[in-house]
Amino acid sequence: MGRYAKPPGPPNRFKIGNLRSMMSDPLGCMMDASEYGPLSNLPLLHEPYVLVRDPELIQQSLAQGHTVMRKDRFTRELDRVLGKGLVTSEGDLWRRQRKLVAHAFIPRRIRTYGDAMVAAAHRSLADWKDGHEINIYESMAELTMDVVGRTLFDTDVRDTAKEVGDALNVISDYYSQVLENPIKPPDWWPSPGMFRFRRAARNVDRIVAEMIEARRKAGRDRGDLLSALLQAQDEEGGGMSNQQLRDECITLFLAGHETTSIALGHTFYLLSKHPEIESKVHREVAAVLEDRRATAEDYPRLEYTERVIKESMRLYPPVYAIGRQLLEDFELGGYTLEKGVTLLFAQWVTHRRPESFTDPLRFDPDRWLPERAAKIHRYAYFPFGGGPRICIGNHFAMMEAVLLLATLIRAYRFDLLPEQSLVLKPSVTLRVEKDLRMRLRARS
Ligand code: HEM
Repeated sequence: MGRYAKPPGPPNRFKIGNLRSMMSDPLGCMMDASEYGPLSNLPLLHEPYVLVRDPELIQQSLAQGHTVMRKDRFTRELDRVLGKGLVTSEGDLWRRQRKLVAHAFIPRRIRTYGDAMVAAAHRSLADWKDGHEINIYESMAELTMDVVGRTLFDTDVRDTAKEVGDALNVISDYYSQVLENPIKPPDWWPSPGMFRFRRAARNVDRIVAEMIEARRKAGRDRGDLLSALLQAQDEEGGGMSNQQLRDECITLFLAGHETTSIALGHTFYLLSKHPEIESKVHREVAAVLEDRRATAEDYPRLEYTERVIKESMRLYPPVYAIGRQLLEDFELGGYTLEKGVTLLFAQWVTHRRPESFTDPLRFDPDRWLPERAAKIHRYAYFPFGGGPRICIGNHFAMMEAVLLLATLIRAYRFDLLPEQSLVLKPSVTLRVEKDLRMRLRARS
């Protein structure tokens, strides 16, 4: 066996690796590949990829091996929009920025965002009526966009936040197309998509720059994420340049809204299929809230609601795979993996392994009861990633998902209309092919 013996994997047909199936059906392709063992060889075109399936090996990579890895190529390409924000930066810059941005996510500060989250949910409720039909994924996207606007840039810039949001949607859609098409046109190619993308990117830059400028002048803490970023200083007393602030704001905006909206959309879908679980959520919410608005203080008491969100993200992880490229040779699972190989960690695959989860396809929120959850490997479930680059917004997102779900379910039942079925369309996140229509039923 050579020094770099490859783990087993699906046959490399037509010498294009698994490109075709990864493009048309990435979830199925990764699932099939994972049957070859804890590590499977999954080349794409001529690039070497290895799928890492088992929790222990995922931990050894993300938590212990992170110093010899960088983000995968697709994530690196996001830097055209995200600049050197937290998702795309590496090394010393990432370390410094992670510390600075963490100021905006300390628990005391996160709790103060609770009211803005609940206020956004009530604004959605104000638009709805008994018997209305809604597109659930679209409605959740509007709602989480509203939350990110309020918490990142403060409430009274809501319209601006929407402008940024719309532009960022154009950008996300462009990237999804690029991801789906392996032959990427060069940047100067005058396609309509590229034109829209450039215009949207210019809009975002202008709006965010104006907002930062205005905020620097005003100089007071408005209690939002941008204020926290402006105040953040490192040990030497240095803060962030305007360019760095712009990159972090756009990164938080993009990383923060689509993931949570998808988590909520999938949760409503699952609840519509499991009315007994839906009733149990409603009973808990009614008992905790009675007739008042939810607040951040209610979050720890909404235990069952939280278990539902956790279980929904196990079956339908909003980020279904993450990648890391090796900067050095790396020993893993009995193989020496060569520098340059990209490791893939697929939540979609690992969250559905029978060794970690009995009856893995069953929607069973009570697997997350503390005594049962204690038996689950820390890396058998990693919707927020792991190691030092774990999602910086994970507590924010959990609180947001729980408070929004609680507020909406207190007011309505969401019934899936007939002949609606969930068809996934994975892009950077676990999107759906077609939105699902639901009918609202007001609670008495
Ligand atoms: C359910 C919602 C969310 C999910 C499933 C999610 C998932 C993830 C995952 C898997 C990563 C790690 C990516 C990797 O290691 O390559 C990540 C990173 C990140 N997320 Fe989230 N996220 C969510 C919500 C949020 C929110 C609400 C924010 C901010 C307001 C946010 C901001 C970030 C940032 C800045 C990073 C990069 C962190 C770093 O590299 O230091 N995310 N997220």
